[in-house]
Parts: sequence; C-alpha cells; structure tokens
Amino acid sequence: MKPLRIALTKGRLEKSTVELLEKIGYNCDEVHNKGRKLILTIGDNDFEVVLAKAADVITYVESGVCDLGVVGKDTILENGSSFYELLDLGFGKCKFALACKKGYDFYHGYGAKTIATKYPNVTRNFFENKNMDVRVIKIEGSVELAPLVGLADGIVDIVETGSTLKANNLEVIEDVTTISARLIANIASLKLRKNEIEELERKLEAAIK
Ligand code: PRP
Repeated sequence: MKPLRIALTKGRLEKSTVELLEKIGYNCDEVHNKGRKLILTIGDNDFEVVLAKAADVITYVESGVCDLGVVGKDTILENGSSFYELLDLGFGKCKFALACKKGYDFYHGYGAKTIATKYPNVTRNFFENKNMDVRVIKIEGSVELAPLVGLADGIVDIVETGSTLKANNLEVIEDVTTISARLIANIASLKLRKNEIEELERKLEAAIK
C-alpha cells in the first residue's frame, strides 16, 4: 500500500513535528536535507510528507490528497473544519487576544469599533458572542501597526511571548482562545486506513505525555 501522506505546516510547526516524529523512531533526514523539494519521504518509506502553508494544509487534507495534517488551531478556527481533529500535539502554544493601545478604553462609547486582523472569522465570532457590532478590516501581516497609525481601534491577533505588543506600546484587553498545533485527518482516510492512523496517533500521544 502507498504510504500515508501527511501535510505539514512549513516553519515552526514543521520543526516541532519532525522532532516528535524522530522521537517515536522515524528517520527524518530527507526533511532536514530537503532543499527546495516539497514532497519528502520519512522513515522506511512509512510516510510521505508534503510541506505547505497553514491554510493549504487544510485544503490538502479536506480534499483527501493528504490523509493527515499538522496545523495550528488558529488556522482551523479561521478556515472551518470538514475533517477530524485527532490530537492536540502540545507545541505551537500561543493565544488569540484582543489588544489595543495602552490606556485606550476599548469598551467605552457607543460607535462600532474597528478591528484589524489576519483572522476575520475568528474576530467576527468573538464579537458576535459578545453581541457587539464591530467593523473588521483584514490585514495580511504586522497587524500591530493598525492601531498605531489609526487604522483600527484594536486588533485580534496571535500573542506568543507578548514582545511584539510590548515593543509597540500595545496591551491585551481580553484573551480570545488558546492555540496549539493539532493533528487532523481526512474523513475518508480515517475510515479506510483506520489502523495505520490510529497506530501513529497512539505513538504520538505516548511521546507527548
Ligand atoms: C505573529 C503574530 C504577532 C507575533 C506575536 O506574527 O501575528 O505579530 O507573531 O508574537 P509575540 O507575542 O511573541 O511577539 P508573525 O511572526 O507570524 O508575522 P506577521 O505578523 O508578519 O504575520
């Protein structure tokens, strides 16, 4: 049978996932020495690894071209979930938070506030739950800039160490939700290749503990 194909989020999550796969005994040399190659083999042809951007990991897993994926809960919350979320991998820990300029009284006043974010769905859900009407502006990166230059009253963004907020005189007003890396599975793959997937899941779970 062909090896299970896993989509990995490139970058920080890739590094931690590879460490975890090595911990459970799979040789990941091809990933370490990948160069510009995007489809890689790990172990003794046990798995095929595809490297992709976070949102694309979900696209690959939902479509079934990849059986499994490793992606942040942030991307899952923003991009929907026609797949199974199997396991919290315990790394890539951070949070979504609402932040604004230090000393700004965000909840004061009647007019709808403007929020800049890379995550419009997460932001809309957060304020809908509060019954608060806000205007959401989608920003592609360095969201912290928006309140500083007057584009937005606040931001909903990822906070890891808090140093980006601190360096820009911003502060968290409220936490939205915690985030970490998740193992996800294509719905059909989980039925058709249940044993192999569950075996990997068990090994990963034991290694995390
Ligand atoms: C993320 C996030 C914050 C920063 C938070 O940005 O959007 O800007 O990290 O980390 P900290 O709390 O440790 O400072 P990323 O590095 O992905 O870059 P981007 O904003 O350009 O997308």
